[in-house]
Amino acid sequence: MNPSATTSRRRRPSLLLFTAFTIALVALQIPNVAAGENDVDFKGIVRDARNLTFENPSLRRAYYALQSWKHAIFSDPFNFTANWTGADVCSYGGVFCAPSPSNASVRVVAGIDLNHGDIAGYLPDELGLLTDLALFHINSNRFCGVVPDTFKKLKVLFELDLSNNRFVGGFPKVVLSLPSLKFLDLRFNDFEGGVPTQIFDKDLDALFLNDNRFRFGIPANLGNSPVSVLVLANNNLGGCIPASIGKMGKTLNELILMNDNLTGCLPPQIGMLKELTVFDVSFNNLQGPLPAEISRMRSLEQLDVAHNRLTGVVPATVCQLPRLENFTYSFNYFTGEAPQCSRFGGGSVADGKQNCIPSKSNQRSAKECASDDAKPYD
Ligand SMILES: *[C@@H]1O[C@H](CO)[C@@H](O)[C@H](O)[C@H]1NC(C)=O
Ligand SMILES: *[C@@H]1O[C@H](CO)[C@@H](O)[C@H](O)[C@H]1NC(C)=O
Ligand SMILES: *[C@@H]1O[C@H](CO)[C@@H](O)[C@H](O)[C@H]1NC(C)=O
Ligand SMILES: *[C@@H]1O[C@H](CO)[C@@H](O)[C@H](O)[C@H]1NC(C)=O
Ligand SMILES: *[C@@H]1O[C@H](CO)[C@@H](O)[C@H](O)[C@H]1NC(C)=O
Ligand SMILES: *[C@@H]1O[C@H](CO)[C@@H](O)[C@H](O)[C@H]1NC(C)=O
Repeated sequence: MNPSATTSRRRRPSLLLFTAFTIALVALQIPNVAAGENDVDFKGIVRDARNLTFENPSLRRAYYALQSWKHAIFSDPFNFTANWTGADVCSYGGVFCAPSPSNASVRVVAGIDLNHGDIAGYLPDELGLLTDLALFHINSNRFCGVVPDTFKKLKVLFELDLSNNRFVGGFPKVVLSLPSLKFLDLRFNDFEGGVPTQIFDKDLDALFLNDNRFRFGIPANLGNSPVSVLVLANNNLGGCIPASIGKMGKTLNELILMNDNLTGCLPPQIGMLKELTVFDVSFNNLQGPLPAEISRMRSLEQLDVAHNRLTGVVPATVCQLPRLENFTYSFNYFTGEAPQCSRFGGGSVADGKQNCIPSKSNQRSAKECASDDAKPYD
């Protein structure tokens, strides 16, 4: 299904290149690049830099980082990096400088934005030299490989957006060590394996992990996370929604868990999500009834529980939620609904088709409603 899954195999950097690169790195002893810079010809970068003058040492390090990155780019169809030449790194396309927080008279590279560049390449270790970076946005490119461990040096990195690229391997654990990180977007890549528990202990505002190959369930400490937006959709997580979710009541605004192969019941603790406006658990294997506690989710505007194996009666208290605009509960095995559910009005919509509600039109066949799938629990 994932289009990048088939195409990511094409542009792996050759092993030879990697080996040469590694040797060069060892020689340079990154991050103390300045120490050996007159002795080593690293891809020609160091020799070039000898005749350049830089405003300050930080911009000199940024020059090494950005030139190394330029060497790690195989295709740049829109010429985003074409003017990455010379000592004035602050004028490079997509590179943003700002006064250093520790000394306002020193300019440093504070942001990179190469969004929608369609650039193919990888992230070299030298990017760890951009120690003043607060924003790193490279969404919608063709960067492949893994996130280098040298990213641990980006102590003030606040927003990391790697979405819609071709990154592979396990969850990039290096992000767990970034003390200033608030916004993490890894969606639409090929990350695989488990989601580390530590990610929910981090003080993040938003976390997007959707459309990867994450598995092995949602960690039980989910509720420790102070995020306002959490999207885990379109992975193959499996398992249940942890009961700790109730602890997210003060902060969680949007939660999207669609198509994650989730099982079990909707935990009653979701009733504590008083600020939640969007709740989407569609296309899973959830069973049992809608917990009565949903009626306490007073901020809900969008509620989508479609394409599960939910049973029981849809209660009036859910259909009467004060802000509910769109309630989708189609393709389940509900056997009844309160009259309020079919009398939605004022621009709001409810979709309850393909259930087992006798009085309602467009329902499942008697055979489907008598099948094993329609049973409350396995
Ligand atoms: C650096 O400058 C010197 C003297 O101006 C020149 O001879 C040398 O070729 C320059 N090196 C590079 C790499 O441009
Ligand atoms: C990028 O630069 C190359 C070489 O200068 C040019 O042929 C090409 O048209 C440029 N592409 C775009 C999208 O401007
Ligand atoms: C490089 O390109 C960017 C836009 O792509 C532009 O803003 C910047 O001024 C250019 N820098 C130079 C030195 O031409
Ligand atoms: C700030 O940087 C300037 C320019 O490098 C330097 O002259 C000054 O001493 C620095 N100030 C502090 C407080 O470090
Ligand atoms: C969903 O998870 C189950 C294990 O609980 C697994 O057997 C099944 O293959 C998964 N479904 C998909 C579509 O991967
Ligand atoms: C209601 O939500 C469903 C699924 O979330 C969506 O497909 C549908 O377009 C929405 N309807 C309206 C009127 O917004």
